Amino acid sequence: MPKLKVVTFGCQANELDSARIVGILAKEGYTFTDDEREADLVILNGCSIREKAEQKLFSRLGTLQALKAENPRLRLGVAGCLAQRAGAELLRRFPYLDLVVGNGEHLAEIPQLLTIAPGQPTVAASEPVGLFPEDTEIHRDSRVRAWVGIMEGCDNFCTFCVVPFTRGRERSRQPDDILREVIRLRDAGYREITLLGQTVNSYGKKLEPPVSFAELLRRIDTAVAPGTRVRFTTSYPRDVTFELAEAMASLECVCEHIHLPVQTGSTRTLARMGRNYTRAEYLEKVTLLRSAVPDLAITTDIIVGFPGETDAEFSETLSLMGQVGFDGCFAFKFSPRGGTPAADLPDQVPESLKAERLSRVQELQWHLSLDRNRALIGQAVEVMSDRELQRRDSGLGSGRTRQNKIVHFRGASVEEGSLLDVEITDATSHHLKGVLIACV
Ligand code: 5AD
Ligand code: SF4
Repeated sequence: MPKLKVVTFGCQANELDSARIVGILAKEGYTFTDDEREADLVILNGCSIREKAEQKLFSRLGTLQALKAENPRLRLGVAGCLAQRAGAELLRRFPYLDLVVGNGEHLAEIPQLLTIAPGQPTVAASEPVGLFPEDTEIHRDSRVRAWVGIMEGCDNFCTFCVVPFTRGRERSRQPDDILREVIRLRDAGYREITLLGQTVNSYGKKLEPPVSFAELLRRIDTAVAPGTRVRFTTSYPRDVTFELAEAMASLECVCEHIHLPVQTGSTRTLARMGRNYTRAEYLEKVTLLRSAVPDLAITTDIIVGFPGETDAEFSETLSLMGQVGFDGCFAFKFSPRGGTPAADLPDQVPESLKAERLSRVQELQWHLSLDRNRALIGQAVEVMSDRELQRRDSGLGSGRTRQNKIVHFRGASVEEGSLLDVEITDATSHHLKGVLIACV
């Protein structure tokens, strides 16, 4: 039986796509290997959101080229956002590649593309317009936690972002299809479901008839088993509604966490980014959510060094971070991406200044996370045990709170996916420490 290895670079959407690729090729008789030296096919599923992400994949391709020289049977493919963006150009740059496939429905074309004679490289990277076929068996590593894609693509065209080009226009799955998948997962014993989309809370606007994201959450809440956790990511600030805040407050399964990228605290920079909201509007959304869900954790993404970002504009990012008191933040240096408007804006910020601003954001976030985490000391929190988070030889159990915070705790060994009561005894900026009180 031929052996496959898939290497994933990038976000959860890419992880889910890799699980789809493995699922599709398993149906074709491929078995999975971790060792690329014994593989017949290696697919690199690549991210292109920032230049650094692309470089990582290119350097991995270099090592695989050497492997292919030793093992001419080996076929190499690049899939996902990077393949979508670079398309046939990749074959010119890396002539030893056998396969280049983009996103969405293109992934389902892989088996057919592989039937083309070895040595004849193939490309399928026209703009994806459809959704992944519903009948695909997704290969899931975990028996407890599952990602469920509910929408694809994005219509927002933020001026720095390649996603609308790599994943195409926004399109949503039918709610009944999503519900069927959720019920299958429930019946297979899954305890945590994370709904995925580039702007997950913009779900359903274009369906006929439209279905709001809050409505989808309500339907999912009635379908899952009691004690199941439902998460979702990534949310777009404009589409945070009163209805969503209410659904988060009232639905037992929905966890008290939202990842809500702000990108910058400056209204002027937001306008240049094409984000469709002001600083004040973002803060209103935060207030709306927090008044409905007081123990909500809010995490965010921030870009530093966007073209034209002045010291004063950057200070507004720091002040907004303090004002919101984010629980966590992924911060990035602006990376100019060819074909996006921001790459051609005047007043590009020098690399050294971007690096300095990045450290300032990270340092501030370190303090904010520590404050937010320390506030939990002395409280009993619900934790879902998670073996992947366990540190080797620490003898401690690990898991996450409903707010998505990592907890390491002392106590008896517990089954993966169990719900536990843990008393928080200490905190760092990255995680909480505690003692197991009881299994829920
Ligand atoms: N440069 C830097 N960061 C970017 N992101 C998206 N595009 C770029 C870029 N060109 C960041 C945004 C987004 C996250 C997924 O990646 O913060 O929310
Ligand atoms: Fe990219 Fe998100 Fe903006 Fe869409 S909303 S263009 S995915 S940053």
